[in-house]
Amino acid sequence: MVQGGPNMIFVIEGTEWGDEGKGKITDYLARRMDIVVRHQGGNNAGHSVVVDGVRYALQSLPSGITHENITNVIANGCVINPKALIEEISRVKDNGVKRFNLLISNRAHIIMPYHIDLDGAYEEVLKKDKIGTTKKGIGPCYMDKMARIGLRMGDLLEPAYLKERLEDDLAIKNVELQAFGKKPYEFDLLYKDLLKYGKTLKPYITDTSMFLNKAIEEKKNILFEGAQANMLCIENGTYPYVTSSSPLASSVPLDAGIPAKYITNVIGILKAYATRVGEGPFVTELNNELGDKIRDIGHEYGTVTKRPRRIGYLDLVIVKQAVRLSGMSYLAIMLLDVLTSLNPLMICIGYSLNGREIDYVPSTISEVSRCKPIYKEFKGWSKDLTGAKSFAELPKECQDYLSFIENYLHTPIALISVGPERDKTIIKEDMFHD
Ligand code: GDP
Ligand code: IMO
Ligand code: MG
Repeated sequence: MVQGGPNMIFVIEGTEWGDEGKGKITDYLARRMDIVVRHQGGNNAGHSVVVDGVRYALQSLPSGITHENITNVIANGCVINPKALIEEISRVKDNGVKRFNLLISNRAHIIMPYHIDLDGAYEEVLKKDKIGTTKKGIGPCYMDKMARIGLRMGDLLEPAYLKERLEDDLAIKNVELQAFGKKPYEFDLLYKDLLKYGKTLKPYITDTSMFLNKAIEEKKNILFEGAQANMLCIENGTYPYVTSSSPLASSVPLDAGIPAKYITNVIGILKAYATRVGEGPFVTELNNELGDKIRDIGHEYGTVTKRPRRIGYLDLVIVKQAVRLSGMSYLAIMLLDVLTSLNPLMICIGYSLNGREIDYVPSTISEVSRCKPIYKEFKGWSKDLTGAKSFAELPKECQDYLSFIENYLHTPIALISVGPERDKTIIKEDMFHD
C-alpha cells in the first residue's frame, strides 16, 4: 500500500493479561496495511472492534476483517474450531461485512469437540487449583499438536488421509475421555462433520506461509495481531495460569512461517490500569469498591465468557517484562478515559518480596503470590478525555501519568486511546514517519 520504502511488518502484542484493546488498535492500524494476520491462540480470544457504531466481537477472525481491501490471515500457529469459525464468519456477514478476504493456514490445528470436553475435565479435576480457562479446548488442542496426534486444517481437504488420522486420534482420545468419565466419540459423526466443514472452508485454506513470504517480497505491509498477552504466555507468563501458546513477537516467525529479520516494529498494547480473567496471582488486584467502580466504568466483562474481569492498578513490573522480552518500539495506551475522576491513581513500580525490593516477575507462583506492590501515587484528573485530539489537550495530571509510563519503560507512547471507536485515538508519536 505504501510504495517506495521498505515494507512495514508490525506486531501488536498485549503487555498485561489480555483485553488491553488489541482489536481496536489492529483495526485502527489496518488502514495502513495490506495484510492482517492472527498468529496464535484460537477462539479463546475476544477482540472488540467498533466500526460505524457496530461492535464486532472477533474471536478467530483477524481484526482487519471489516476492511474489504485487506487480506486477513489465520496462520499456522493458531488453533481453529471450524464450526465456531463458520458461525463467526456468518455473524460478521450479518453485521454488514459483505466482502472480505480470508486465508486459513493448512497447517493450523483443529479444535475438536473432545478437546473442549477435556478442557472441562482437567478443570474439574484441578478443582481449587483450576486455571479458569475459557473452556474452548485450547490447551488440549495444543497438547495434541505437541504430541503429534493433532488434525490440521489441510487434512479437511484430504478425506482418505483425514479418515486415517481421525481413527488414530480417536483411538487415543476415547481412552482418555473414558478415564475422565466422559462419553467417547463415534468416528462416523465426527468424520461427517469434518468433511462438511472442509467443504465450507475450502476456499480459504491454503499455505499461508508461502503467501506471506511472497507478500514480503512484494513489499506489502503486514500487521500481526497477537491474542492474549505477555503474562498469559506459555513460556514467560505466570505458569501454569497461562494459555497454551505464546503471544510474544518472538513467536511470530514460527507461528506464521516467515523469517524473524523482517519484523520492523513491535507495538505493546497497554491498558491504563490492569485486568485479568481467570485464576492466578494478580499483585495489584483491587478486590474492593474501587475495583468494582472501574469494572463498571470500563465495562470489564469477558468478551468470550462474559466473566467479570478482575481489576487492579497499572502494574509496570509486568509491562516491563513484555518490553524486555519483545523489544517494543512503541506503546499504545488504552482505556485512559476510564480513569477520569478517580483520585489518586497508583502505578506499581516494583514488588516487595521477603523484605527485598524487586522490579521483575519471579518465576514461581508461590513467589509472585507473596509479592506486595510498591506504588507511586499520581494525582487524578476530572476533565472528560473522550473529545481530546492531541496529547497537548489532555489535562496536566493525565500527561504526567503518561510521561511517567514512557520514562519508566524507556519506550515512546505512539497512540493514546480515549474510547472504543476508531476516531477516539490520539497520535502522540508518528510510527509511520510521514
Ligand atoms: P483485546 O482482547 O485486547 O482486543 O481487548 P477486548 O476487545 O477484549 O477488550 C477491550 C475493551 O475495551 C473492548 O470492549 C473495547 O471496545 C474497549 N475499548 C478499547 N479501547 C478503549 C478506550 O480507549 N476506552 C474505552 N472506554 N474502551 C475501550
Ligand atoms: P484476548 O486475546 C483474557 C485466559 C483465560 C485463562 C487462561 C487460559 O481477548 O486478550 P485458555 O482458554 O486460553 O486455556 O485459558 O487465559 N485467557 C484470556 N484472558 N483475554 C484473552 O484473550 C484470553 N485468552 C485466554 O481466562 O485465565
Ligand atoms: Mg479480549
